[in-house]
Amino acid sequence: MQDLFLKALRCENTERPPIWVMRQAGRYMAAYRALRQRYSFMEMCCQPELISEVTWLPIKTFGFDAAILFSDILILAPALKLGLQFEEGVGPLIGKPIQSRQDILDLPRADDLSGLSFVAEGIRQLKATLPVPLIGFCGAPFTVASYFIEGKTSRDFKQTKKWLYSDPSGFHLLLSRLAEWSIAYLNLQIDAGVDAIQIFDSWAHVLAPAQFREYSLFYLSQVMHGLKKTDIPIILFCRGSAAFATQLAQIHPHAISLDWNCDIGQMRRSIPYPIALQGNLDPDVLYAPAPILKKEVHSLLKSMEGDKGFIFNLGHGISPDVSESAVRLMVECIKEEQSACLAKSSF
Ligand code: CP3
Repeated sequence: MQDLFLKALRCENTERPPIWVMRQAGRYMAAYRALRQRYSFMEMCCQPELISEVTWLPIKTFGFDAAILFSDILILAPALKLGLQFEEGVGPLIGKPIQSRQDILDLPRADDLSGLSFVAEGIRQLKATLPVPLIGFCGAPFTVASYFIEGKTSRDFKQTKKWLYSDPSGFHLLLSRLAEWSIAYLNLQIDAGVDAIQIFDSWAHVLAPAQFREYSLFYLSQVMHGLKKTDIPIILFCRGSAAFATQLAQIHPHAISLDWNCDIGQMRRSIPYPIALQGNLDPDVLYAPAPILKKEVHSLLKSMEGDKGFIFNLGHGISPDVSESAVRLMVECIKEEQSACLAKSSF
């Protein structure tokens, strides 16, 4: 297996930084859209053969250095008996949002994961064929809690924030139940064979720093420490990472994924090895004409030149309407860097 990605996670980058992108198997790919003509998103997430086929698509097409399991952070909702639907043009809808302390007490405990066995089977199928490491993932307890409370994507997360302020102990109860589920779910993925894990705290940016420590960081740390394989590399992603990166570093993940609101080179000065840094190209750069795209990719590479623990990624998920040729160009630029490096070393 090609292991540039795992080397970078151990801060042993040698030839060039590895590259993968969040949401790399998605609607910007014609092959993905063709599959979506035949299957719903839920079908694609729940059938092991489709999980494997879709996870493979961007590896085959662009040659990324890591694959991310095709699934969704909300796939836990059906296992928690909350119901989940993805509506065209609307996004995820939770059938029975959590509205009271009793709703939390009624959630099933994380001792029976048979409802998620299709994920384990998908991972096993992938591990038999993939030439690059496989990243498993889950949502952070805070982000998943926000979805389960709001019931859908929200612009301001008012219900979540109201609950957090008016009933902190109820909110903590929900977070600890979700942390238990996250641990059990990640352990299932580890048992099935994933090589690394990324935890997505996509809505962390609605929290103030002290709230982030209490309602997010504490549970991220609990999840990390609950994993059965203590040396499995863990990447923490959060929106607002520029504000929270030093807090994230305090719980010692293997890597922190940065959004594009910070200068990653400068960030490296406050986040020491052995923590690797992942990121942080503005996803909208993929709309730019080729010369600008190249310039932006090179300037990011330059700012992390010689860094032992750097993984090239976007600052957040790739947009559904970028062109595949822009993605191909981005990957080529990074791989050319390797040829340039090898050429240099031959003198
Ligand atoms: O990165 C990957 O390629 C792995 C797969 C993955 C998906 N979602 C596939 C997906 C991962 C890691 C996620 C995580 C996820 N899901 C997050 C956290 C990461 C982030 O981007 O912040 C969140 C907040 C969700 C919830 C979710 N799922 C939303 C809000 C939506 C609708 C988005 C939209 O643009 O329609 C989804 C659907 C979804 N998840 C799609 C994909 C490929 C699109 C589904 C389709 O084909 O219609």
